[in-house]
Amino acid sequence: MAKIKPLTFDYSGSLIPVNGVSQGDIDGITAKLQAARDEVLKVDLEQYASGEIPAEKQPLDAGFTEMPERILEAYHDDRDGSELGRILKTATRLGETVDKVVVLGIGGSYMGARALMETCCHPYFNELPRESRGGRPRIYFEGNNVDNDWSQSLIDFLESDSSGKEGPEGNWAIVVISKSGGTLETAAAFRQFKAALEKKVGAENLKDFIVPVTGASGKLAGLADAIGITDRYLVPDGVGGRFSILSAVGLLPAAIMGIDVVALLEAAAAMNTHFRTAAVGQNVVLDYVGVNHLLETKQEMPTRVLSVWSKSLESVGFWYDQLLAESLGKDERGAFPLTCVNSRDLHSRAQQHQEGARDKVMNNVIVDAWRHEGLAIGQSEHDQDQLNELGDKTLVDIMSAAIRGTNLAYREDNRPTTDIHLAGVNESSVGQLLQMLMLATVVEGRLIGINPYGQPGVESYKKYMNQLLRET
Ligand code: PA5
Repeated sequence: MAKIKPLTFDYSGSLIPVNGVSQGDIDGITAKLQAARDEVLKVDLEQYASGEIPAEKQPLDAGFTEMPERILEAYHDDRDGSELGRILKTATRLGETVDKVVVLGIGGSYMGARALMETCCHPYFNELPRESRGGRPRIYFEGNNVDNDWSQSLIDFLESDSSGKEGPEGNWAIVVISKSGGTLETAAAFRQFKAALEKKVGAENLKDFIVPVTGASGKLAGLADAIGITDRYLVPDGVGGRFSILSAVGLLPAAIMGIDVVALLEAAAAMNTHFRTAAVGQNVVLDYVGVNHLLETKQEMPTRVLSVWSKSLESVGFWYDQLLAESLGKDERGAFPLTCVNSRDLHSRAQQHQEGARDKVMNNVIVDAWRHEGLAIGQSEHDQDQLNELGDKTLVDIMSAAIRGTNLAYREDNRPTTDIHLAGVNESSVGQLLQMLMLATVVEGRLIGINPYGQPGVESYKKYMNQLLRET
């Protein structure tokens, strides 16, 4: 296993005398944070394993917690037959046979895969020639909306781009992901894309070009049976949609993209070890929860801005928006998550963040090392822009100055910040970050007495939408 550079969390920007928190405040809730950790790691896992779940804790989807270790262990025991071994084989098979894969899913059944693509693949992955993608298919997402024009345009593109080509370039496939198997957006898209695929490959071959990830039973499982698909994956019981990124839901698309899924899982497992063993004050999960919780309750700052300082992290931010919003936005409570991508959004939101209502904490996510050497501004004979004096500065220098300058400006105005540092944007850092944020979300739920699992409020719109569709 390659050495994992640990993710770090620095909350000194929130230890401010006015509108902030003090070390004393954090010390004051240490016992509560430890109790919340014990509940997540001991009580929840015991109740989950025994099946004896008290009514107020239902649903208890605690299966995600130790999933990275479970999947890795099974893989090390049986490289071929384990779930991860099979996922890798499916990814290789699709890579050899198709050049485009459409991932259908919504919410927790797609946001993770997209976050993994944007963080761990080349930013222009789909635009690269096949050899530069390592023979991996291009990836498209649908079934995450009911946008007529986007769906039709993707079907048109798949048909025209594959037309008249031999080999993988002439073929495309579907990965359809739905835990319940009945979500309308995904189900409608599956029917439409399946029809387009059938025209291409013929009904008898559909089974080789569709890989479902779904529950053991349900409408999608029934369709997979009817089509005769054997290469398929389960969304495990006890793992909720937004906690499923490190199950087949995220791992299968990731493996198809050529992402190092073992490194991703090892990093998540390392975060689990850290969470289990590190004391408050050095525990990135507990410290993140403690500081954000104190700012919300003591300073009335319910808005959590995840301020990501890399374009590659935008979809991780969206994934986290869903995780926090659906998990804790219950009983008229729960923090309000908002993703900002900087320096881009300094030109759209900074005014409000600097001088607007004092209801926000800025949680920065900072990348310590970029993949490429710093790109210098350079010297030019046309110095009308007066950049020659900065000619040897790189985009890395400018980004660092933007981060430090923004934090200083917030500090000057008593606006709290925290910094999550990633060693890079890669499997190792992203695996840690994802597991950290999932753990933090359930720890906070236990701390404030809100069940982080389930999303009862989402049922209401579905009921009315279905009723309206059937009436008209
Ligand atoms: O977090 C969740 O459980 C939800 O966001 C679901 O992932 C989303 O509603 C999609 O559900 P399904 O996977 O059943 O189609």
